[in-house]
Amino acid sequence: MKLFNYLLKDVTHKIEYYSRFSPSPMSIKQFLDFGRENACEKTSYMFLRKELAVRLANTMREVTLLPANLQSQPSVKLVESWYSQSFEELLEYKTRSPEDPRTLYDFLEILIKIQNRHNDVVPTMAQGVIEYKEKFGFDPFISSNVQYFLDRFYTNRISFRMLINQHTLLFGDTACLAQPKHIGSIDPACNVAEVVRDAYETAKMLCEQYYMTAPELKIGELNSKAPKKPIQVVYVPSHLFHMLFELFKNSMRATVELYENSSEGLPPVKAMVTLGKEDLSIKISDKGGGVPLRKIDRLFNYMYSTAPSPRLDPSQTAVPQTAGFGYGLPITRLYARYFQGDLKTSFKKTFATPNFELTCKLL
Ligand SMILES: Nc1ncnc2c1ncn2[C@@H]1O[C@H](COP(=O)(O)OP(=O)(O)O)[C@@H](O)[C@H]1O
Ligand SMILES: [Mg+2]
Repeated sequence: MKLFNYLLKDVTHKIEYYSRFSPSPMSIKQFLDFGRENACEKTSYMFLRKELAVRLANTMREVTLLPANLQSQPSVKLVESWYSQSFEELLEYKTRSPEDPRTLYDFLEILIKIQNRHNDVVPTMAQGVIEYKEKFGFDPFISSNVQYFLDRFYTNRISFRMLINQHTLLFGDTACLAQPKHIGSIDPACNVAEVVRDAYETAKMLCEQYYMTAPELKIGELNSKAPKKPIQVVYVPSHLFHMLFELFKNSMRATVELYENSSEGLPPVKAMVTLGKEDLSIKISDKGGGVPLRKIDRLFNYMYSTAPSPRLDPSQTAVPQTAGFGYGLPITRLYARYFQGDLKTSFKKTFATPNFELTCKLL
C-alpha cells in the first residue's frame, strides 16, 4: 500500500511538472516543412518524447478539474486510465538515447500502441457524459463547463494524433508505400471531389444498412483559380473525409426520415465545392426539413441529438449507428478549426434547405 501511494504521488508530481509546459502550436505548413526537408527520425523522436508527454499531462490536469461526479463515472475513469498509462510509457523514453537504433524502433512501436489504446476515446467519453446525465440530470452550468472542457479535450486529441501519425507514417515500416505523394498524413494535392465522393459512399452504405435506402449525391465544382480543373488543396484527407462523413450522415438521416413514406422518392443531397483565393468551401445541403430556429444554438452542443441515445454495448457492435451521440457537428467543427477553417450553418433561402458550409484555409 505504501509503495502504491508513493507511486501515485510520483505520477501526480510528474503530471504537475509536465503540465507546466505549454504544447507547441503546429501549423499544416510546419508539418509539411518538417516532413519534406529530409525528415530526421532522431529529431522527431527528441521533440515528441517531451511534446507528447506535455500534451497528455495538460489534458490529465484538465480532467482533474471536472466536477467530481462526472470524473467518477466508470467511462471517464477508463479514459483517464488510458491517458495515464500512455503518459507513463512515454516517460520511459526520457533518458533513452536517440543514437541507439533500438530506441527509435521501440518508440515507433509504443506510439502505435498508444494510438490504438486511444481509438475509442470519443465514444467512451461521450458514454461517461451520458452516464453522468442519467444519474444527475441536466444542469446548464455544468453543461457549459463540459462543453468548454470537451472542446479542448477533443482538440488536444486531434493534435496529439496528428503528431503521432506524422511520426509513424514518415518513419514506420510502411512509410511511403501506400501513398508516395503524401507527407505523412498530408496530401499536398488532395482532390477534394474524390474525398467528397468517398465520404458520401461510406455514409450511404451505413444509411442503407440502417434505413434500407439512401439519397443520391449531386456534386458541383467551381474552381476560381483554374476554371474547369479539378480542385486540389494541401490537406489531411482523413480529416476532410471524417468531417464530410458526419455531414452526409446527418443530411441522409434528415432526408430519409422526412421522405420515408412519400411516393416522390428521396431528394438528393448536394455538395458544392468552391475554391476561392484564400479558402476552400464545401457546402452540403439537403431537403430534409432543417432545424427549427429555436434549436439552432444547440447544434454544436455535445449531447444535443434528436436521435435515440446509442449504448456502448460490446454485444451489439453489429448494429450500425448513423447518429445519436450528438458529437458529429461539434467534432467536425473542431477538425475544421484545427487548421484555421470553420463549420457554419446558414439558412438563407428557406428553413427547409439547411446548409452546412465547411471552410478550409488554403496554404
Ligand atoms: N442536415 C440536417 N438536417 C436536419 N437536422 C440536422 C441536420 N444536421 C444535424 N441536424 C440536427 O442536429 C443534431 C445534432 O447532429 P450531430 O452533432 O451530428 O449529432 P447526431 O447526428 O449524433 O444527432 C441531429 O440530431 C439533428 O437533430
Ligand atoms: Mg450526426
